[in-house]
Order: sequence, then structure tokens, then C-alpha cells
Amino acid sequence: MAEFCNLAGKTALVTGSSRGIGFALARGLGARGARVFLHGASDSPKLRSAADALKADGVSAAAVVADFARPDGPDALARQLGPEGVDILILNASLQLPKPWNEISDDDMLAQYRIDFMSSVRLIQLLQPAMAARKWGRIVTVGSLQQQRPLRHMAVYSALKSAQENLARNFAMQFAKDGITVNNVAPGTIRTDRNVAALADKAYERKIEEAIPAGFIGAPEDCVSAVVMLCAPESRYITGVDLMVDGGKHLSSV
Ligand SMILES: NC(=O)c1ccc[n+]([C@@H]2O[C@H](COP(=O)([O-])OP(=O)(O)OC[C@H]3O[C@@H](n4cnc5c(N)ncnc54)[C@H](OP(=O)(O)O)[C@@H]3O)[C@@H](O)[C@H]2O)c1
Repeated sequence: MAEFCNLAGKTALVTGSSRGIGFALARGLGARGARVFLHGASDSPKLRSAADALKADGVSAAAVVADFARPDGPDALARQLGPEGVDILILNASLQLPKPWNEISDDDMLAQYRIDFMSSVRLIQLLQPAMAARKWGRIVTVGSLQQQRPLRHMAVYSALKSAQENLARNFAMQFAKDGITVNNVAPGTIRTDRNVAALADKAYERKIEEAIPAGFIGAPEDCVSAVVMLCAPESRYITGVDLMVDGGKHLSSV
């Protein structure tokens, strides 16, 4: 049987892949033969060691830097990719600023809006035309279980994840004729830098685990199969879906 999801000859950009879920996704796509652009907000040691790790795997990898808090961030990133752009675009970069609803400042809102939503729209505007010209493209937005089940102190973040998922369905409808699929992957609780401090509280960690039917908190690598599957050449007829990767947490009443 032919190998499933051979991405040889394809180029992928994973935003926010200096660490966490984005890094795991970049590694997963690289393992399928894609050439990979890793991305971070700044030229950090983490970003450089992420690129080194992929190269050590034998993947053709390069790091690009752009701060999406800046209005010109997405354009600056696209310029670093060259005129061919990419075949696979994974929109994963994110900022989460937990606060009680009545303490969220305009600056908090604007930063999350730019990084969690506006950068996705702009990067798609910049990179979709080259995909359309080649009649092949895969776009995956990384959302969150919070699209459906918002958490108290993350009102703006949750709302922006819902908005991004809606955007994915809209673009899925518009881009299908050009061989481009657009899907959303929604992780539940995945152990990364953003929750490591909270999960160090063992009582809190236990409470989270009890709300997950699978009984454990996910690892970044648990998000890879969903994204790789959606990027496969064989997945050309799958578009506009919202795929939960949460150990069944969306089913839980806890
Ligand atoms: N972890 C979870 O439990 C969970 C649950 C549901 C959904 N998600 C979603 O999954 C995705 C990855 O989450 P994660 O936990 O792996 O995130 P993370 O560990 O917090 O990493 C965030 C990534 O986004 C980049 N980033 C942050 N601010 C940026 C900016 N101003 N401009 C450009 N890039 C910026 C970071 O780059 P630097 O390293 O340069 O800062 C980093 O690569 C996000 O979309 C998140 O919302 C995560």
C-alpha cells in the first residue's frame, strides 16, 4: 500500500513553533517530508534550538521571526518566505491573557486580537494566492475547546478562538474550488509553557484530569495526527471541519 500523507515537495509554515504544540506540529509535518518554516515572535534560543532539532531529524528547516503584536508582523513574516510562499499554513501562534472580565484592558484586547485572530486573516490574504495558483493548499487554524466551553477568565481569548473557527469555515467554502482546504483543530488541555505553572498545583491538575474522559492531560504530540491527517494529499475532500483533540473533554459535564 502507498504511504499515507507523503508531503515531499511541499513547504509548510507553522506559526508559533518555537515551542509547545506548534513545535510538535512542525516536527510532525517535517517527518512526512515537508520542508518546514518554524516561527517565533523573536529570535530566541528556543526558536534556534527548535530549528536545530528538526535539522537533526533530517528535516529541511529554517526559522523566521515576526511579532504579530505589531501591525506589520504578518507582512514581515510573509516577506521572509519568498514569492513561492508555502503549500501548508498552520496558524498556531497565540497569546492568552487570563483576567476577570471587568479588568480586561483595551491593550489586552488589542494584543490578543492581533495575535490570535488578525494575524490569521492577514497571513491567509498574503499566502492563499500562491496556493490558488498551484491549485493545492492546506490551511489549519489551531483553535481551542474554549470555542465551545469558554473559561471564566479568558473571555476575549475564547471569543477570538470562536471567531477564528468561523473564519476557517468561511474560507473553506471560498477556497475549495482552488484545491485549498481550510480546517480547524481544537485542542483541550495540553501541557505546555502556558499552563505549566498552573498544573504544578497538584490539586488543580487532578481536577483537570477528572474532567477529561481519557483521564490524562495531553502532550503537544497528541495534536500531531489530526493536523498531519488534514494536511495529507489524500484529505483533499475534507474541508471546513472543526476537529476536537481533547481526550473527550467536550463530552464531559464536569
Ligand atoms: N496548551 C493548551 O492547553 C492549549 C489548549 C487549547 C488551545 N491551545 C492553542 O494551541 C496553540 C499552541 O498553544 P501552546 O500552548 O503550544 O502555546 P505556547 O506554549 O504559549 O506558545 C505560543 C507560541 O506562540 C508564539 N507567540 C506568542 N506571542 C507571539 C507574538 N506576539 N507574535 C508571534 N508569535 C507569538 C510564541 O513564540 P515565542 O516563543 O517567540 O514567544 C510560541 O511559539 C495556540 O493557538 C493555543 O491557543 C493550547
